[in-house]
Amino acid sequence: MQWRDTLERYGQVTRLLHWGMAAILLWQITGMALRLVLGRTPLMAFWVGTHQSVGTVLLLLILLRLLWAWINRGRRPAQPRSWAGRAARLGHGALYGLMLLIPSLALLRAFGNGRGYAFFGHQVVPRGGPRIDWMSAPADLLHGRLAWLLLALILGHVLMVVLHHFIWRDGTLRRMAGRMRGRMADCQDQISG
Ligand code: HEM
Ligand code: HEM
Repeated sequence: MQWRDTLERYGQVTRLLHWGMAAILLWQITGMALRLVLGRTPLMAFWVGTHQSVGTVLLLLILLRLLWAWINRGRRPAQPRSWAGRAARLGHGALYGLMLLIPSLALLRAFGNGRGYAFFGHQVVPRGGPRIDWMSAPADLLHGRLAWLLLALILGHVLMVVLHHFIWRDGTLRRMAGRMRGRMADCQDQISG
């Protein structure tokens, strides 16, 4: 099993973080989008009730993912030096930046807006404290807006993957999905075959 990344494909840990976070982000953003459409139904109360805790888990996961990206620097599939490669690097960088900024600002607000903060039912900051403006104002202004921007970038990212896979057929999707056998396994097959 290939745990670490190679120049040909992403390893198991990167894939787990990528697809796991994609699923959790889907839960997080869909919940808020449905709340806007459906209002406060009992299902939405449960779904939205998980938002702060799930968002905090996403913050921990992105810190782990950044650390893993740093550990694997220089041994990940490289983007070409063309304008398209630069755009892909910029796009991935923006996704990382937003995944870090969005929950960080929200958590800062949760610690400073006096409404208290609970993590999966465990009260971390009690309700009723003073509202601290510098901790609350950035998220009031930016949290929702940046989250919708993240959704737009994710949709653009998925569209690019679809184009790579079905139009250009250049194996981009196989670097993040599909079989994990690397060059070594291919060489061994050739030797034994
Ligand atoms: C990556 C993680 C997160 C994403 C993608 C995300 C996404 C969103 C979205 C899409 C909205 C709806 C905005 C609107 O109604 O226009 C929202 C609102 C909200 N989120 Fe998050 N969120 C995340 C993390 C967090 C965390 C960690 C907290 C608190 C600790 C939090 C607290 C809130 C609150 C209180 C609102 C309602 C007020 C507002 O719109 O700013 N979120 N979030
Ligand atoms: C159905 C949804 C998704 C698909 C099909 C998909 C597919 C892919 C593929 C094929 C790659 C490899 C690209 C390459 O090597 O050039 C990739 C990389 C990447 N994707 Fe996604 N992705 C999806 C969702 C997401 C989401 C929700 C995020 C985060 C907001 C995300 C963030 C990234 C990042 C940052 C990379 C660069 C590699 C890394 O550092 O993890 N993707 N994705």
